[in-house]
Amino acid sequence: MKTNQLPGPANWWRDAVVYQIYPRSFADGNGDGIGDLKGILSRVDYLASLGIDAVWLSPFFPSQLADGGYDVDDYQAIDERIGTLEEFDELVSKLHENQIRVFVDIVPNHSSNRHAWFKEALEAAPGSPARDRYIFRDGKGPDGSQPPSKLASHFGPEGWTQVPDGQWYMHLFTKEQPDFNWDNEEVHQYFLDTLRFWSDRGVDGFRIDVAHGLKKNLEPLPDRDSYALSVMKDDGTDPIFDRDEVHEVYAAWREVFNEYDPPPVAVAEAWVHPNRRPPYASANGLGQAFNFDLLASKWDADSFRKIITDNLEMSAETGSSSTWVMSNHDVIRHATRLAIPGYGESADGFGDEHRWYVENRLNPNLDLDLGLARAKAATLLILALPGSTYIYQGEELGLHEVLDIPGESMQDPQWFRGEGKLKSRDGCRVPLPWTSAGSSYGFGKGGAHLPQPSWFAQVNVESQEAGDSTLNLYREAIKLRKASFSTDSFKWLNLGPNATAFERDGIVCVTNFGKEGLELPSGKVLLSSGAISGGKLPGNATAWVSTL
Ligand code: GLC
Ligand code: CA
Repeated sequence: MKTNQLPGPANWWRDAVVYQIYPRSFADGNGDGIGDLKGILSRVDYLASLGIDAVWLSPFFPSQLADGGYDVDDYQAIDERIGTLEEFDELVSKLHENQIRVFVDIVPNHSSNRHAWFKEALEAAPGSPARDRYIFRDGKGPDGSQPPSKLASHFGPEGWTQVPDGQWYMHLFTKEQPDFNWDNEEVHQYFLDTLRFWSDRGVDGFRIDVAHGLKKNLEPLPDRDSYALSVMKDDGTDPIFDRDEVHEVYAAWREVFNEYDPPPVAVAEAWVHPNRRPPYASANGLGQAFNFDLLASKWDADSFRKIITDNLEMSAETGSSSTWVMSNHDVIRHATRLAIPGYGESADGFGDEHRWYVENRLNPNLDLDLGLARAKAATLLILALPGSTYIYQGEELGLHEVLDIPGESMQDPQWFRGEGKLKSRDGCRVPLPWTSAGSSYGFGKGGAHLPQPSWFAQVNVESQEAGDSTLNLYREAIKLRKASFSTDSFKWLNLGPNATAFERDGIVCVTNFGKEGLELPSGKVLLSSGAISGGKLPGNATAWVSTL
């Protein structure tokens, strides 16, 4: 049994608060405009001040950044712009000294086209073992000049790209992200090795990118022009996503995790029908699965109530715990999203986000203060729920999406390949503001790789260190959550149609989704995201009330 992980009970992750770091945009230690491990090392005190249990590092592997690092050239190395393995080891030990665990992002569905294996595949002949690690097929038509099937990619129209000898390879994302063939034994072994490589270095957890991909049934080759959930089969037989066999892969991964004490946990990023989520979170599999339901939800008590009830039931089914997420590096920051009139009201969930972004990005009439009030209320609500909470860097400052990035500064392939229909994810990836003034607002001594807006002068770590700031609200809530909740107990209370209210361990958490003030239950108010007057909680606010 190997024990490089931070010691603790095997189920430490059940109620962990995990803070997502997008390394290129967190802090720049050497002044080249790109965030790096040195930068993160210099901010460990800040991370500790948040009271979080773990950080999740988005990909830091060598990459040409065709998809923000989710195009990996080498899974067992660090991009030289981001740091070295020595720095990584130093970061893990410094975080562990501060009782903070570390998650690494694993991207198993596809590598980058600069991975040694893909280069080898291009040099090898059709039908060779080197090509078998990826998905190569002959084209259609007399000269094979047509793609093998009508397959879109997530970011654009073409899911097949032709190589010089005439064959085509499949990529569900950009053409720089060829999909692996998960029926190939070498691919399988490579990821077992990779999980050991990072676990040996003391990594405590993994976030698994596109965890519902991997296994595919390509006989016959499927046609697909959309990846909306509504077109994906929900019985494990979809040709591309969420096939039942994918869980055989994760069962083998679990055996690797069990070589360590405590075993690393893994959290699946699986965009599947909610009823298909439990197997990913099973104790014989990855352990946890992201619940993204609140990301697509409208601001409405009934919707929140239903999502919470359903997810608590689902996590009880597997013995896992639920996960709660309001923001990440792929979606419009929740302070801005919750300011969007009508968001979440159409049936196609994330479709709303793209449509709104394209149509209203520069609309000056957005009520951003309302969005921020709701965001704080939502965060206090999820921090009171049983399960673990994933926080995305900058949300603790109440950051809004940066909406005015000029086209020529955009980096996200989704923006370029989306034919004007998909939003850019750059607006939530802008380098963090640490100070009110100075070079790149304290991000680093050089510039910032995406333009920072002038309002960062008001919204930054320095200006929120003292007083009633969003930052201090996060800190207090995380501290109080740790001190107060020791069980998974949960009971709904009824405070009317426009509120959610539940009780856990003697604390009642009330969220007022309405406009009018709401009478709070009697007790001591421990925390509130809005000013209480005359015993009433204002609209768009959450309070925690002790009834003990
Ligand atoms: C996941 C990542 C996203 C990336 C995609 C392809 O959804 O979160 O950022 O573009 O996978 O790897
Ligand atoms: Ca740097």
